[in-house]
Amino acid sequence: MFERSFWLPESVNRLAQGSDELFMFILWVTVISLVVVLGAMVWFAIKYRASAAFIRGAAPTHHLGLEVLWTVVPTVILGVVFVWGTRDYTRMSVPPADAMEIRVTGQKWFWTFDYPEAGVRIQATPEMDAKNEADGLPMGLVVPVDVPVRLVGSSADVIHSIFIPAFRVKKDVLPNRYTTATFQATEVGEYDLFCAEYCGTKHSGMITKVSVVSQDDFSAFIESSKAVADQPPDGASIFASSGCAGCHSVTPSSGGIGPSLHALYGRQEELVGGESVMVDENYLRESIENPMAKVVAGYGPIMPAYVGQLSEDELTALIVYLKGLGIENGAAL
Ligand code: CUA
Repeated sequence: MFERSFWLPESVNRLAQGSDELFMFILWVTVISLVVVLGAMVWFAIKYRASAAFIRGAAPTHHLGLEVLWTVVPTVILGVVFVWGTRDYTRMSVPPADAMEIRVTGQKWFWTFDYPEAGVRIQATPEMDAKNEADGLPMGLVVPVDVPVRLVGSSADVIHSIFIPAFRVKKDVLPNRYTTATFQATEVGEYDLFCAEYCGTKHSGMITKVSVVSQDDFSAFIESSKAVADQPPDGASIFASSGCAGCHSVTPSSGGIGPSLHALYGRQEELVGGESVMVDENYLRESIENPMAKVVAGYGPIMPAYVGQLSEDELTALIVYLKGLGIENGAAL
């Protein structure tokens, strides 16, 4: 009855079955109540208008039947909504005992998905999603079809909110505590995943996909992700998967949220406060791990700290990559 582009997409979450029917029930109860109440108001306003002929002061002040009616009918409707809602909400929020657990971390401005049992980490930045799409690989959060999944979410910085409309799932993720969400996808496909809590400049870009795949494809995905994880870290991939490109350009352009990283190594940087610093390995390391320590003049102190988020190997590989940006044959371009 409603346009697909306006309404939520078709629900593909077995655990959320019934919630759409409850939503429509509440919607129609509300619409009918609105029509009845407004209709009665208009009808009374016309019937008892000032110029109408009737004996004022003779109107009844109490009607037991009406009082009972407008108390009992809403109570029954609210009782139905309560029982129905409690049943569906419980089914949606209590994960089945055999649910697969996936850790979700929101961070300005991308999602990280950890599969603790497999030891696999997926970082769903726009760059990684584009690369996976080009390579024909599943994007974003990859889950098997028909398997209950329990998401355990938290945030590395501010409040984000994980919103998967096709699953009817929306849950805030917060710094310093965990929240959970549960679903069981019924159909293979690719579904939108949004951040639904305004979290800064690139909030609207904090989008990725949920790729629901067959159980065989899921095993293959886990195996190939493990194989990648066994390779020595590659700085360019870490740059792409850690969200760096969201703010830093690697070309000489300026105007990004953070400074351009082109031909950075060996450069003198003006800092907020007037001093300047020579960009060497230690400055790069400090600026990744603890970006507030030395902020470049003209930029805000907004970069999230990556201390503890990259392994020693990854940090070193990233610094090697940064040193090489814009450098060819040993000279800065
Ligand atoms: Cu994260 Cu909005």
